[in-house]
Amino acid sequence: MISGNRIRLRAIEREDLALFVTWLNDPQVLEGLSLYFPLSNHVEERWFENMMQKPAEEHPLMIEVKEDNNWVSIGDIGLMNLDWRNRSAELGIQIGDKNYWDHGYGSEAIKLFLRHSFETLNLNRVTLRVFETNLRARHVYQKIGFVQEGVLRKAFYQQGRYIDEIVMSVLKSEWDHANEESGIIP
Ligand SMILES: CC(C)(COP(=O)(O)OP(=O)(O)OC[C@H]1O[C@@H](n2cnc3c(N)ncnc32)[C@H](O)[C@@H]1OP(=O)(O)O)[C@@H](O)C(=O)NCCC(=O)NCCS
Repeated sequence: MISGNRIRLRAIEREDLALFVTWLNDPQVLEGLSLYFPLSNHVEERWFENMMQKPAEEHPLMIEVKEDNNWVSIGDIGLMNLDWRNRSAELGIQIGDKNYWDHGYGSEAIKLFLRHSFETLNLNRVTLRVFETNLRARHVYQKIGFVQEGVLRKAFYQQGRYIDEIVMSVLKSEWDHANEESGIIP
């Protein structure tokens, strides 16, 4: 368990897959993600099996919040494309239950996960890609300290048009500095 102020991050279990299928079939959630095809339980099972073959560091973690003394699963966060020599990886997040958007949980999960990435996994750079249209996510990343590196022009086709993908990153040194200044660690 990785514990924050209001959330915790835990390993994903097979029993969680039905939740993922619900979340990843929600058109509003999908607008921010690169998935575009209705997702079946079978495909999600296959994803889980493939994921379990990967190193633990690449397993996404469930984001949970405490409500009335129960932990409620609201989304997941994880790393992809880990590059150990260059100590770099790509972050992905979804708050899949949109009832929990705009409650600060996504921001808290990212900050907590960055601490894990820099202080436990000893990464030096965490990068991400975000659609130009995903204004909420862009606001969150910028607020946390991600810096725009560049734009993959018209890289994704969505709802009948090509949209840009923005590449952002945060370095360990920047994160350390931000913490000294304002204490972004939850
Ligand atoms: C993007 C996402 C992770 C953000 O998590 P969240 O818990 O909703 O975000 P938070 O509550 O921590 O913060 C939301 C911030 O965005 C702001 N915001 C909301 N809508 C906005 C908009 N249209 N434009 C700009 N800012 C917006 C909120 O005011 C808040 O800002 P504040 O903290 O300065 O007040 C979550 O909404 C999500 O998973 N969306 C669907 C999947 C997705 O897009 N994943 C990211 C792929 S790159």
